[in-house]
Amino acid sequence: MTHPPLRVAVVGCGDVARKHHLPNWKELVGEGRVTLTAVCDAEPDRAALCRDDFEVVKAFSSFDEMLAEGAYDVIDICTQNRLHCPMTIEALKTGANVLVEKPMAMDSTEARQMVKAAEKASGKLMVAHHKRFEEGAEQLKTVVDAGELGEIYTAKSFWLRRRGIPGWGRFHIAEESLGGALIDIGVHMLDLCIWLMGSPKPVAASGKVYRMFGDREDLVNGEWGVPYDVSEFDVEDYATALIRFENGITLSADFAWAANIPEETWGFSILGDKAGIASPPLGIYGAEHGCLTRKTFDWIPDEEGHREEIRHFTECIEHDRPVRVQPAESLRIQQIIEAIYESSQKDAEVRIQ
Ligand SMILES: NC(=O)c1ccc[n+]([C@@H]2O[C@H](COP(=O)([O-])OP(=O)(O)OC[C@H]3O[C@@H](n4cnc5c(N)ncnc54)[C@H](O)[C@@H]3O)[C@@H](O)[C@H]2O)c1
Repeated sequence: MTHPPLRVAVVGCGDVARKHHLPNWKELVGEGRVTLTAVCDAEPDRAALCRDDFEVVKAFSSFDEMLAEGAYDVIDICTQNRLHCPMTIEALKTGANVLVEKPMAMDSTEARQMVKAAEKASGKLMVAHHKRFEEGAEQLKTVVDAGELGEIYTAKSFWLRRRGIPGWGRFHIAEESLGGALIDIGVHMLDLCIWLMGSPKPVAASGKVYRMFGDREDLVNGEWGVPYDVSEFDVEDYATALIRFENGITLSADFAWAANIPEETWGFSILGDKAGIASPPLGIYGAEHGCLTRKTFDWIPDEEGHREEIRHFTECIEHDRPVRVQPAESLRIQQIIEAIYESSQKDAEVRIQ
């Protein structure tokens, strides 16, 4: 049965909406599966530019007006972190399906409110953890789910930039974003790794966050530049953590917007007693017939995470299927992040309920 085109509204016409969300919704417009019904940005010029560039029906500068004046099947929230929770809850109340950018929220209290709102709502809620949709992620999940790693006991996850502090938007201001490298890029890697590990229940975290570069007058930020006012920078640019899960499973993590290393690097390893998966180089590592073995890939489906995520969300609505990133899983990631910040402040391990 064909579905009438879904009416999509995108809220927040900044970097991620222009580069990743609107082009992918536009592709679905071309396939007759959605209409771009509204865009909204507090800065009217930004909303108008997106309306014109992406052939959107109407531009709004007020979220409340947008909700009052139209009916939407999908509301895609691409504003800064502080607005994720209040906008999601309002959007769910209208009956719309809500895709909200990462991180889910500012803290676990907000994240819990969002989970509750989604439970009551007729629409679906998904946090935009696009790394679960990138090249290789689904295939590795199949390997893990088939039990090929055996008993998973530990994992490692990292994303370290040499110099890559976001200079636009509100990333550098705690009141708007809560934190820096951990909540911005760490959230991606934590979500990916914990999902691949089979979503074990976190029970405690210990961590330390550092602000070493972002507030310095002599900051060298490479090609990212320094368009923000360094005196406003009050978040971390490095985070390190150890997370404990039920059954003695652990995950160690390091995330940096800036660090004195040779070059940007990101990856993970998930270790089991039969085999491990690791990246880079992406592969399955083990031992067979008295030899150490590796299985790497000559070809994997070439998937762009944001594109696949938006297509997946659309398909879940069209066919009424559960979304890949469940709100309860995103709440757990939020709890872990909160525990790491708290642990850093207290210089002690923090329990996660
Ligand atoms: N998944 C990813 O790879 C990825 C990449 C970048 C950013 N993000 C996330 O996306 C979000 C936005 O990041 P960005 O880089 O696009 O930031 P941005 O600052 O470029 O865009 C945010 C936009 O929201 C608008 N806005 C602010 N208040 C508003 C309001 N009340 N109503 C409507 N619009 C409002 C701003 O004017 C701005 O245009 C952040 O939460 C960030 O973590 C995700």
